[in-house]
Amino acid sequence: MSTKKRSPVASGKTKVLFEVEEQPDVLVVQQQDAITAGDGVRRDVIEGKGRIAAKTTARVFQLLNLCGLPTHYLSGGVDDNQMHVRRAHMIPLEVVVRGVAAGSLVRRRPGIQRGALLVPRLIEFFLKDDANHDPLIEPEAIVAGGYATPQDVATMSELARITYEILAHAWRRRDALLVDLKIEFGRLVGGEGKGQLVIADVIDNDAWRVWPQGREDLMLDKQMYRNLKTVTPADLERVRANYEQVADIVETFPQMRPGMVGLLVDGAEHLAASELAARALAAFGLPTIRHVVSVARTPGYILQLVTQLEATFPRMVLVAVGAANSALPAMLDSATANPIGILNVENPHPDELALACAKAFALEDTVVFGRVLLLQANARSEVLGADAKLNAPPPAPAPGAALA
Ligand code: C5P
Repeated sequence: MSTKKRSPVASGKTKVLFEVEEQPDVLVVQQQDAITAGDGVRRDVIEGKGRIAAKTTARVFQLLNLCGLPTHYLSGGVDDNQMHVRRAHMIPLEVVVRGVAAGSLVRRRPGIQRGALLVPRLIEFFLKDDANHDPLIEPEAIVAGGYATPQDVATMSELARITYEILAHAWRRRDALLVDLKIEFGRLVGGEGKGQLVIADVIDNDAWRVWPQGREDLMLDKQMYRNLKTVTPADLERVRANYEQVADIVETFPQMRPGMVGLLVDGAEHLAASELAARALAAFGLPTIRHVVSVARTPGYILQLVTQLEATFPRMVLVAVGAANSALPAMLDSATANPIGILNVENPHPDELALACAKAFALEDTVVFGRVLLLQANARSEVLGADAKLNAPPPAPAPGAALA
């Protein structure tokens, strides 16, 4: 992709956006070395922060893209501070998801204990308006102000919640608590999916609170800078070191841990059914390895195969594909400590099987975890959509149309 930049089209407190020659629907985001707090009242420069922030943002967006979430991220940013994104009209809202009470929430609502777990997650919208200190805005006011439709508000809430859960999962695997998170949305201005709502802007160490081991005193994020009474060069160096540490950890987020689903097919006549399972598993990005076996004729081979697969794939789910009365599931259950799935070819449910396998991998694998969350959200929205259609008011009669 060309990186020939033109003049800046926009700039924020900590980033500049450039157009790209001959690509009207693409922008380059360059993050700056500035760090600010209190609506920009406090401002310092930390050399190298822009590059570190770009690395964090790019890895976060790569993870979200891998999970299947709609974002503006295209490429770059990891080592060049030149993140290519799809151009979007920004919605002037900050969407905050809170899993643990902290920050402005406990100031606004003293009844809520600092550090309390928030279930369900709290979603809050703030209007981007520095002059008025980004006030909290209720969904009704967002709609009344023409900033977004009720459907957009619902979509932003759902996508923000899923984003939080995905990143919280990734941090949890690194023994850290994601306390809260801020994201922003835009609407694609052109190209495929024009008009679609996507997660945009940047998501870096300024945009969340992260407490290693769940301990606030070990915080790694921008709050440390906000809390400083005075800012010394030594403070800034500590902030820089934290940002670097966060970027190094986030670097490892967007990876699939190599997992494998072993499909053991009890009888060659059931290969077609195993194909259905393989396809359903592929929807979660889960690879499969297939073997035809026979409990009656090759029991020794099955035991040998299980041992061999266990030795080859550190994360593996075994699936028995066969008739309802096949003894293969029982045999696998006693042969391995790995999780077992069953595909009964007389009444196959490949999608349910794939979901169960994905959930087993999702315990460790943030990408698969995110894909499961997205699938569940889409299933929910299908039901809600069908219900809304069923109960939609009848269309108004066209002027002059006969009333039957
Ligand atoms: O300050 P408050 O508790 O409302 O912040 C909630 C979350 O949103 C925090 O993770 C904070 O870092 C983030 N935030 C942000 N940009 C703002 C305000 C808050 O990234 N302008």
